[in-house]
Amino acid sequence: MNSPRSFTAKETRFQGRYQKSLLNTLFQAYRPAIVGTLFFMSAGFLGRIALLGNANLIGYWADSYCVASSEIKCRALPQFLQGLTSSDFLYLLSATTLLGFILTICFRVGVSRLSAHAVSRVYDETTVRTSRLPMSFFDQNPAGRVMTRFSSDYNNVFRIFGGPLAEFIGLIFDMLAMTILITIASPWFLLFWFLQAGLNFGVYRFFLPSLRHARRETALRRSAGISHFAESVNGASTIRAFDRRLIFEERFAKLNDDYLSQRQHSTGIFVRFSFAMSATTAAMFLLTGLISIWLVHTGRLSVGSIGVAFAYMGLSANILQSFFEWLGQFEEAMTGLERMNEYMRLPLEQGAKLPFTAKFKTGHPQETSYSPTQILSKKQYGAPIDIDNLSMRYRDDLPLVLEKVNINIKSGERIAVIGKTGSGKTSLIQSLFRLYPIEHGSIKVDGVEADTGQGGIDLNAYRSLIAYIPQDATLFLGTLRYNLCATENLPDAKLIESLRRVQFLPTEATDAEYLHWLNYQIEERGHNLSIGERQLVCMARCLLQDAPVVVLDEATSSVDPRSEEIITRATEEFFIGKTQIIIAHRLSTIRSCDRVVWLQNGRVHRLGPPSQVLKEFESTELTI
Ligand SMILES: Nc1ncnc2c1ncn2[C@@H]1O[C@H](COP(=O)(O)OP(=O)(O)OP(=O)(O)O)[C@@H](O)[C@H]1O
Ligand SMILES: [Mg+2]
Repeated sequence: MNSPRSFTAKETRFQGRYQKSLLNTLFQAYRPAIVGTLFFMSAGFLGRIALLGNANLIGYWADSYCVASSEIKCRALPQFLQGLTSSDFLYLLSATTLLGFILTICFRVGVSRLSAHAVSRVYDETTVRTSRLPMSFFDQNPAGRVMTRFSSDYNNVFRIFGGPLAEFIGLIFDMLAMTILITIASPWFLLFWFLQAGLNFGVYRFFLPSLRHARRETALRRSAGISHFAESVNGASTIRAFDRRLIFEERFAKLNDDYLSQRQHSTGIFVRFSFAMSATTAAMFLLTGLISIWLVHTGRLSVGSIGVAFAYMGLSANILQSFFEWLGQFEEAMTGLERMNEYMRLPLEQGAKLPFTAKFKTGHPQETSYSPTQILSKKQYGAPIDIDNLSMRYRDDLPLVLEKVNINIKSGERIAVIGKTGSGKTSLIQSLFRLYPIEHGSIKVDGVEADTGQGGIDLNAYRSLIAYIPQDATLFLGTLRYNLCATENLPDAKLIESLRRVQFLPTEATDAEYLHWLNYQIEERGHNLSIGERQLVCMARCLLQDAPVVVLDEATSSVDPRSEEIITRATEEFFIGKTQIIIAHRLSTIRSCDRVVWLQNGRVHRLGPPSQVLKEFESTELTI
């Protein structure tokens, strides 16, 4: 047994600033909508100017009643407002409010929709890449952890980018619009406005590292708990059978406590941040109030201007605080995006390409046009397999599990692979499918190699040459029909024929009964079928695939007469004429094969007819 230090990869801890690739991902996500986004943003900005500018209008309206005295100076109204009556001012105010309202609504809806599309593009592109990652990635990353990226991390991204982002941009517009409008009302207050913005920014910068760290840490701990939960659900029957519920519950409780205490800690930081922001704003507000009194009394500004500027200062307090609080939320979305971006940029499995429909340029190899899996001319019979000098390891830091393996299989030959547990039988099949990179040597099926970067045929086309019945028959949530042909739309008659051939139902079963079964809902991983039934479905699936090579990884767990009969019939009847590789655990299966390969520690120990190999095998390794 290999014992690597830690098989499961550590969850990535992001530190410091965001990577450049993250901005590039955002840019690629928004690029198709750039014109629309700019259009709606302009509308939004005009809308905010129209709404906020009302305060200026009111100031001018107040000034239109101003009577100059020794104490109070009056301000001359701009040309276009001169001579307006109070009713005119009211009409003007109503018109700008309506315009502002309509433009703001257009902006909010438009930007939210475009933004929601943009982030869902990130999701789609991440999914396309994750499904093409090397098997070693899935070995090292628990399913729950991967799921977290596609659920809670994405949820954080969508929650902000899909809606409140428009709110956030609206706040930026408010600040810009206010800078312009305050300048028009009274440049004096620009000083206070900048001072207030500067102080709030200072508070934000002060809290930024701890806020960012707290968010990343929270995302990390949530993922650990979910991974453990998913794993426990998968192994529920084993946990109960061994009465280990308490241990799993305790472990979950501990992970959950870790997560909750981190959340509490993050909330604490956020509360302190909010408090510091409010305190700064309140202090600035007080200062502005006191100075305003002095400005009026010294006759430096008109009453209207003071009123307008003071109204803005009050408003700005809210806007600035909301802005920096939203910036915090935005950071959370960026953390989620950062975690998805990591998966999007990982190298794909050797030989895999992105479909030509993938839009983001991430440096991965990509198909240049729509190319459905190349259909190689189907052979009614088998195809030869040449394995030359094959060495393979699962990961660079792990030892070789196959070493200098040479096997040449003739077309239509039936080969049994035997060997002690851990000798490399399944690994040989994984290599045949090119699920893991091979270190040395070559594998040719029907004279062709899979393209893993150095020429050969497309990886998917290559894989379609081999049908596989795994050790634990794999079924998916969905109807039996779906499980038989997920991608192709085959006629029911063909599906029934394949089910009949494997005798899924007793011989006398009618087509109507089979039809009923085709619609039978299979549960996750085929839990509502017996192991034998699952195997039969897998065999029917392989019959439909009609590949020249069939690989059968015999299950050690279901050594019952029914299973044995199924395997024997599969090799001698269903797949007769095809090239067969059978990872055999039963003598009955092995004896009827043409040749036997005996693996020992990843090397071919013997290769020959069953009569020769089995004798020695039985006398030395009776542990099959
Ligand atoms: N995904 C993997 N990552 C790393 N090492 C692996 C992986 N799968 C198997 N191994 C290691 O490779 C070696 C060969 O395993 P393999 O599954 O090929 O054995 P096997 O002959 O099929 O055994 P069994 O009869 O129990 O199915 C073992 O030492 C095993 O620990
Ligand atoms: Mg195995």
